[in-house]
Amino acid sequence: MTKRAGFATRLGAVAAAVGSAVGLGNIWRFPFEAGQNGGGAFILVYIVCILIMGIPVILSEFIIGRSTHSNMKAALSRLSPGKRYYLFTYVCILGSFVVIGFYSVVCGWIIEYLYQAALGGLQGHTPEQYSSMFTALVTNPWRCVGWTVLFLLLNFMVMSRGIEKGIERVASVMMPLLFVILLVFCVNSLLLPGARKGLEFLFYPDFSELTMRGVLDAFGQAFLSLSIGISCLVTYSSYFSDDTSLTKDATTVAALDTLVAILSGVMIFPAVFSFGVEPTAGPRLIFEVLPGIFQQMTGGYFWALLFFLLVFFASLTSTISLSEIPITFMIEEHRMSRPRAILWTALFTFALAVLAALSFNVLDQVKILGKSIFDAMDYAASNIFMLLGGLFTAVYVGWILDRKVVHEQLTNGGRLKGAMEPYLIFCLRYVAPVSIFFIFLYLTGII
Ligand code: PFF
Repeated sequence: MTKRAGFATRLGAVAAAVGSAVGLGNIWRFPFEAGQNGGGAFILVYIVCILIMGIPVILSEFIIGRSTHSNMKAALSRLSPGKRYYLFTYVCILGSFVVIGFYSVVCGWIIEYLYQAALGGLQGHTPEQYSSMFTALVTNPWRCVGWTVLFLLLNFMVMSRGIEKGIERVASVMMPLLFVILLVFCVNSLLLPGARKGLEFLFYPDFSELTMRGVLDAFGQAFLSLSIGISCLVTYSSYFSDDTSLTKDATTVAALDTLVAILSGVMIFPAVFSFGVEPTAGPRLIFEVLPGIFQQMTGGYFWALLFFLLVFFASLTSTISLSEIPITFMIEEHRMSRPRAILWTALFTFALAVLAALSFNVLDQVKILGKSIFDAMDYAASNIFMLLGGLFTAVYVGWILDRKVVHEQLTNGGRLKGAMEPYLIFCLRYVAPVSIFFIFLYLTGII
């Protein structure tokens, strides 16, 4: 068994969990999902989902992780000896590979935009030209695969040198900076002509625009954004110290993550309407809109550079947490050395990521249930793996796990109030399973 370290401070532990949660899910995926699902009503469902499922499932993962100080498989074997719940770990591992497979392609795009920003290539174009720029990037297999591979190399280099903690320390400075920059961009966007239309789109809930598919997307988006359902937060919280308040940490993570997502929306949508971009543009949305925003700011060159640099770090702390899931598992359960575990994880990840990157060009004819490989991975990751994982976690902690463990963890052995316990148990036992069950009925076409 390898020796397990702990986080030195509460801030270190929370910063790492926030680092995992805040990433492309907030800045890239949230705006385009909201855009495709009619805006305001989607956001309302999203926030409800954070409250009734997001926070309860984060807390459940924290309870599993911190009560055992182990990875998911060892934790489940210890909490339920003689039972086979631990087998669910394999679903989590598979899920983590699918997420990182498509996610790293987008991280690759971020590096290309960082590079373009450094060259000054994001300045002085029309919205149509920004759109063609993005098309030129994704339809070029060499560039698309090249940036993805470069990103993954950086990710695994950081991990193999054991400098994740260093990156997290850098990120705990970068994250607040990202937050401030988002605020600056929001103010700037609000001053654009036509900003009002963007805000209305984002905050006025027009339920006629909301479909069952939109509800499913909101749930999937919440799970992806909070990094829940594939045991990532079990792994992280297994390093938490015994006297941090799990309730406080879980609500802090959820609140900051949601705030960053909403700020990204406020930054993007006024500009979408002002520049005449389609809100339903999908994954390309922010890449078409952001350069236009930088362009009309004083010092746009530096804003662009800073922004993409910060987003790059935010993505890196997310992919580190994702890769940590299979790596910790291989080291602790299969007694692999760390370099070997990293190598295997890297090989699987590279294979999936290259397929996802090629699905915009060489493999664009390959469809899985009518979706490109990239879209299929994106859909499967959030709407299937993470939701299924959320369901498992909710049912496990709500119905199966000894209530004493839950109480002990929420109150730190009686030292804290643990006022959220009844709410948590109600959500885990009834609200989360029933909602996810309905979503699956819809997915399978039964309703
Ligand atoms: N939460 C991250 C984001 O919003 O970008 C993505 C992510 C990280 C998902 C870690 C899952 C995970 F385990």
